[in-house]
Amino acid sequence: MRNHVKVLKPRSIGISSTRMGPYYTVASVELGNTTTKCILSTTNLRTAEIFQIAKEVRFTRDVRPPTSEEQVFGETLVGVRLTRASVSEMIAATLTSVLESVGMDLERDLHFVVRSTGVTAGFSSPNEVGEMVQALAEGCLKAGVPPRKMTASLSPDTLPPGLQDYTWLKRVYFDGAVASSLPPADASVVANEMEGELVTAGIKGAVKGTDIDFRNPVMTLDFGTTLAGRVTDESHPYAKTIGSFAGLAGAISDAIVRGSGSVRVENGTALDLPKFSAAKDTAIDTGLVDAVHRLIRVETIEKGTNRFGTVPVDPQAAEESGVVLMGIDAGKNGSNLPALEKIGRKIYQGYQLDGLFRTLDLVQARLVCRLVSLAEQHNLILDNTSLGLTGRSITTGLKPDIITSTLIKKDESLWVDKHQLVFVEDGLAMGAAVAARCMNSMGTHEFPMGGRKGDRCIMGARMKLQRKDKS
Ligand SMILES: Nc1ncnc2c1ncn2[C@@H]1O[C@H](COP(=O)(O)OP(=O)(O)OP(=O)(O)O)[C@@H](O)[C@H]1O
Ligand SMILES: [Mg+2]
Repeated sequence: MRNHVKVLKPRSIGISSTRMGPYYTVASVELGNTTTKCILSTTNLRTAEIFQIAKEVRFTRDVRPPTSEEQVFGETLVGVRLTRASVSEMIAATLTSVLESVGMDLERDLHFVVRSTGVTAGFSSPNEVGEMVQALAEGCLKAGVPPRKMTASLSPDTLPPGLQDYTWLKRVYFDGAVASSLPPADASVVANEMEGELVTAGIKGAVKGTDIDFRNPVMTLDFGTTLAGRVTDESHPYAKTIGSFAGLAGAISDAIVRGSGSVRVENGTALDLPKFSAAKDTAIDTGLVDAVHRLIRVETIEKGTNRFGTVPVDPQAAEESGVVLMGIDAGKNGSNLPALEKIGRKIYQGYQLDGLFRTLDLVQARLVCRLVSLAEQHNLILDNTSLGLTGRSITTGLKPDIITSTLIKKDESLWVDKHQLVFVEDGLAMGAAVAARCMNSMGTHEFPMGGRKGDRCIMGARMKLQRKDKS
């Protein structure tokens, strides 16, 4: 039998240590549908290893309500209403608090801030998400972050003197490839494209310091409340995005949990349950897991759909960019969530909290199996594709163990017998650390993040490519 599957977490480090070496420190500011996070990470530029300095996680639903004069410009999946000002105030407060908790000097110790959001349900098209990211920028400015720490550098002089030796900006510029993956040609394929980009980079970064070589081709999934992620191919020096994911993820568990009656009906989530993990032999009715899955669609998103699992999508743009768009929905834009709540009630009545947790583990794990088989059907899985998973609705409980032992391919072989499988905590935040380095061309030859599994660093190939583009 396999041992308990490990979820990779960054090692922790103190600020004073980061002042003694070539450390590049980045704040990830993320407005999620359920949680809002400010996570401070730092990368040792010699080894590419990422460490965590501090993190603060709040419930997004605790944002202050809009005043009567304010315009609501977005809402979370469960309808928490957001205004530009309320979002920026919450971000400023969370960022200030995490910086203060470790005595970080913004000017001296913090090099870059990356903002992202999974809150897209209130938008009508993928590009409207830009306005939310703007509100996050306002929050960072309020907390005292200078604008130059939020945009890519063009020359090494913008970096602190001690770090200038570690940038390749004189040889390569930031051309949009993050950890050597190019975004789809049309950037507005899904509203959470940036999340997909960051988690892909983050999982590549998370394995540094281990013996895993998690590079292209990869399939990555962020199981937050909603789903994000990408499939890349093995083009060189940059991989292309050939698959993209959107829709519901933890929202499915949350509906089941709300139905159980053990959390608030309007906006309770699985995170409100006591911290707990159900054992493998917990008694449950697997028929109920099947019943849940019958209410869920895991499929490619057809042309003419502008929203899938509440997330704005543009399947036409996806097709034109050569991207297979895949999603998870419960009915149409969550229309089956009330039916899932009913099943949740049955599970809880029959099998209590243990049974509820065990069911969530099995339900979420099976979502991954269905997504992988869909990707396989569309020929997106190559012989050496690695799979990386992050987000609370897939890294919690025994989900990693269940996926490891049940994920099979079309030919009935076990995924892990032929492919890598990694689980990462806070993958998106680590992706912020990686993306910030990419924007400032701070790669290392010895521990490359870019390129293909087993290959050497792509710096030379990038220089050649960029010279060709210029001439
Ligand atoms: N034990 C668990 N089992 C299943 N789901 C869980 C568990 N614990 C938390 N979740 C779910 O994970 C989701 C929260 O994960 P995370 O904080 O990564 O999402 P988020 O960043 O807020 O959402 P998004 O990225 O979609 O904006 C919620 O839906 C939550 O209920
Ligand atoms: Mg998230």
